[in-house]
Amino acid sequence: MRLKNKTALITGGTSGIGLATAKLFIAEGAKVAVTGRDDAVFERVRAELGEDALILKGDVRSLEEMNAIAAVIKEKFGGLDIVFANAGLAARSPISDINDKLFADIMDINVKGTVFTLQSMLPQLRKGASFIMNTSFVAQTGQHNISLTAAAKAALRSLARSWSYEFLDRQIRFNAIAPGGIDTPLHNKLHQSSEEARHFKNEFAKFVPVGYMGKAEDIAYAALYLASDESSYVVGTELVVDGGASQL
Ligand SMILES: NC(=O)c1ccc[n+]([C@@H]2O[C@H](COP(=O)([O-])OP(=O)(O)OC[C@H]3O[C@@H](n4cnc5c(N)ncnc54)[C@H](OP(=O)(O)O)[C@@H]3O)[C@@H](O)[C@H]2O)c1
Repeated sequence: MRLKNKTALITGGTSGIGLATAKLFIAEGAKVAVTGRDDAVFERVRAELGEDALILKGDVRSLEEMNAIAAVIKEKFGGLDIVFANAGLAARSPISDINDKLFADIMDINVKGTVFTLQSMLPQLRKGASFIMNTSFVAQTGQHNISLTAAAKAALRSLARSWSYEFLDRQIRFNAIAPGGIDTPLHNKLHQSSEEARHFKNEFAKFVPVGYMGKAEDIAYAALYLASDESSYVVGTELVVDGGASQL
């Protein structure tokens, strides 16, 4: 029970990495709230997380909606020890394909969403809280056709440093996790067909030094470490969890 008596918010906790992390945090004793936009999946998520979890609808790009979520958390939890700012989006596109919509989607969900998550939850964050960002291995090196996503994730990595400094007096720690290719529903959303998604995943696995894509649980365990008091001396850093993809 590494998170006994702790409360946690996970944005984008209705699928993939966020959902796996919510399950692990609950198993480790935390009270957990998750958010997502599509309430059609909430019943299935409730079945997976159990009756005690808070499942809240909201878009991280809307400060108004995030403030409403903060009000529910204040009422139900009385404060927060952990935030996993996980909601995000990635897209491969050459520079010639970047338009207003793609630029806004990538920058707003990843960067504005994380800024609004902090702004709205700040009054609820307890002394010693852990705030974790979800970045990506694509910002560790130069890679083909993914510059916009890499830039958005690099901005988050920078914010982890700046905010750690800014909130030293409240002893709030900001750290990031940089996942490699993780087999989640995200990849199905990014491809036209399940056949195309399967082909991408097979090809991707060949590029990873360990020879396979990661599982959502691989990132959940990294989040558990950064959320727990075991990492209390870890401040403003980024933990790369990518099967060696950006390091070897
Ligand atoms: N999978 C990978 O290979 C990989 C690699 C590196 C980094 N990451 C990062 O890991 C994070 C999670 O990705 P995943 O693979 O778990 O994706 P996923 O399975 O598609 O889950 C994304 C979650 O975020 C929510 N979400 C998306 N946009 C949102 C918004 N504007 N407001 C609130 N919630 C929103 C989604 O719910 P709704 O759609 O209902 O809102 C869903 O719960 C992202 O930040 C992603 O960039 C993933």
